[in-house]
Amino acid sequence: MTALDEIKIGGLGASRKRVEDNRFIRGKGNYTDDIVLPGMLHMEILRSPLAHARIVSIDTSRAWQIPGVHLVLTGEMMATRNLAWMPTLSYDTQAVLATDKVRFQGQEVACVIADDPYIAKDACEAIDVEYEPLPPIVNPEQALADGAPVIRDDKQGQDSNVIYNWEVGDAAGTERAFAQADKISRLRLHYPRSHPSPIECCGSIADFNRATSKLTVYMTTQAPHIIRAAVALVAELPEHMIRIVSPDIGGGFGNKVPVYPGYVCSILASILLEVPVKWIEDKTGNLISTGFARDIYLDGELALRDDGKILAVRMHVDSDHGAFFSDAQPSKFKIGLLHSAFACYDIPVGHVTARGTYTNKAPGGVAYRCSFRVTEAMFFQERMVQAAAHDLGMDQAEFRRINFVSDDQFPFRTPFGFLTDSGQYGKCLEVGLKAVGYEDFRRQQAEAKAKGRLLGLGISTMTEPLGAGNSREYDILGIKMFDSAELKVHMTGKAILRTGAKTQGQGHETTWAQIVAHELGLPAEDVVVEEGDTDTAPFGMGTYASRSTPVAGAAVAMVSRKIRAKARKLAAHLLEVSEEDVEWELGRFYVRSAPDRGVTIQECAMAAYSNMPDGMEPGLENTAYYDPPNLTWPFAVYIVTVEVDPETGVWDVLNMVAVDDCGVRINPMIVEGQIMGGLTEAYAMANMQFITFDAEGNCVGSNYMDYLLPTAWETPGYELHSEVVTPSPHHPIGAKGVGECAAVGGPAAFVNAVMDAIADTGVRNIDMPLLPDRVWEAITKRHDVSGAPPVRSDD
Ligand code: CDP
Repeated sequence: MTALDEIKIGGLGASRKRVEDNRFIRGKGNYTDDIVLPGMLHMEILRSPLAHARIVSIDTSRAWQIPGVHLVLTGEMMATRNLAWMPTLSYDTQAVLATDKVRFQGQEVACVIADDPYIAKDACEAIDVEYEPLPPIVNPEQALADGAPVIRDDKQGQDSNVIYNWEVGDAAGTERAFAQADKISRLRLHYPRSHPSPIECCGSIADFNRATSKLTVYMTTQAPHIIRAAVALVAELPEHMIRIVSPDIGGGFGNKVPVYPGYVCSILASILLEVPVKWIEDKTGNLISTGFARDIYLDGELALRDDGKILAVRMHVDSDHGAFFSDAQPSKFKIGLLHSAFACYDIPVGHVTARGTYTNKAPGGVAYRCSFRVTEAMFFQERMVQAAAHDLGMDQAEFRRINFVSDDQFPFRTPFGFLTDSGQYGKCLEVGLKAVGYEDFRRQQAEAKAKGRLLGLGISTMTEPLGAGNSREYDILGIKMFDSAELKVHMTGKAILRTGAKTQGQGHETTWAQIVAHELGLPAEDVVVEEGDTDTAPFGMGTYASRSTPVAGAAVAMVSRKIRAKARKLAAHLLEVSEEDVEWELGRFYVRSAPDRGVTIQECAMAAYSNMPDGMEPGLENTAYYDPPNLTWPFAVYIVTVEVDPETGVWDVLNMVAVDDCGVRINPMIVEGQIMGGLTEAYAMANMQFITFDAEGNCVGSNYMDYLLPTAWETPGYELHSEVVTPSPHHPIGAKGVGECAAVGGPAAFVNAVMDAIADTGVRNIDMPLLPDRVWEAITKRHDVSGAPPVRSDD
């Protein structure tokens, strides 16, 4: 027997069909709402109708009288257990159930536990709450105005609505560079609030067993171990008596990272009632109260030389976090990884200042398919780059070429201190330009213009930091952001792999087995992958920020190597040679001097249980914790061509080309699926999707009539390119993350294309989404169009 064919066994590069789809397409997935436990009760939440109001009284007496009601919880009752407030993942506090004030529309005020969800809902409506309205604040400008009411008057010493002021970079050096610039290009824009909106809403089933003192919580979380730690700390329960099980998840996209009040209430209710309590959030509850994304304002400036070189970058951002600063980010970086902006450009110096504010809106700032604010970073970057090239009268592609970090500059230190690992930016751009037929399109554009038609081309190029992160710099609430994998190879050579990550549709059950196949030569189909149960999975920080492949995926490779190292000893024993004389080829060890004499990895596995050498610990299993030395830095080029109708402002995508270099692709088909999904979300953000608020703080976008998800009907086609592969030099299999790249880099390509089409109007910016009326207003009135709340009366 000789080395196995890697593709045949489903190793690296195999477009293996997703094993999890077997159950999903048969309707056999096991989601939180599918779980039914004996004696289970149901919980519903009463939410605030007002954005900002003092609570005068809450009368629950009518609700208690409804047959089938077992418990009505209010903030006052939570307070007796010290649970009215909880800590957030960003060192803030958040009301579990409101006691003093409500601070956003949709905030949790009370909850009812009843025999079924309908009784619970009716009982919620029977709770009488008297509110004294207060002035609502719906954007940072209002929050920072003199005399603005202090939203977080619950916090000692909080005398304004500012959460933080944060900065990074070299202010003085940047100032000097700006003084020497031939030109300064400026842009102001708003990245609107959007919602990850997974198909499955949030939910939990808490099951406290008084006899064993064990609390089991089934829930839709992307980070089960973080939740276990949070429950241990918030509810003051012993950690070993808490089991978090995250079953199949119908999409997460960042929405399922934070800790929500519903989880805490269902846990307390189960402890009090000693029966399982299920809380399944409805769509409106999900859209108005759980983690929003973005809602951030940029004032950006680029210092430019006439020949196109960028000398310095300066950015100020105002981030609207809503009423509680509750999204997760590495504790060192208040505004996430926003300062990863401009990492693909060789810019000598830069300075970023960031300010976070409270407003009367649901807690926002979660990383929707995004590594902690990189979506905003790359959007600002690519919009600023387009504006700068335009200001210099330079070709968009040429301007990028001049400023790209070149292939021989890696590892490259960015102006904000990151170290990028590898890339071939120029090559990717050339592939993209060729695919879209750049020169031809520019000719067509000029011809169309002569006939009054508006064609546009938008480019977005970016590298982003995926794989948070090394323990020197990355932690959430002090917990370092490593990840883990545990591999048990049974005696017949079949294996079970568990990781600290948690798939929500990304296909880990398929791709992790491929890494094992690559490292050990075990066919991928012989490896079963399990994630999400804190009683069995090794500790990990979960799946978000496209960190799974860079961190957990690396741990899978490393644990496989540990297994291989032990298997080598077993092979030497079986072959009766010393370990040094044993060579490895995929799936087999052989004697160097006699290549025909060999043993398979499966034979080694059997020997681990039946014929191990004297003194060797039996069995073939191990665990690896992986602390990545750096982030991985994939690169992407997205190019879009559009036609804008000058009469209506409607724009159509003519063509979209995506060139993604994410290093080694474990499963090319899954990678393509990730890119297509991301591009569709990008298109949605650019074209139709936003959540805004009126002047009273009412959430506009609380249902799918107002918050638009793209369907197959309006989604454009994409041309994907995979020919550029630059392995990550520090990742064990050279892979870089990819899950969120297209959602991160895509929006700017669409917006740049529309702005290019209407460049002659002199308009510098239209805020997303580029709704027809906004584009039409820009064309006809020739001014920038802001999308910042409060909502305009004609929106
Ligand atoms: O953290 P998350 O799983 O969302 O993102 P990811 O690590 O970028 O991976 C998304 C999916 O693409 C996983 O199934 C990965 O194993 C797969 N992938 C791949 O096949 N090759 C890569 N270079 C990167 C990801």
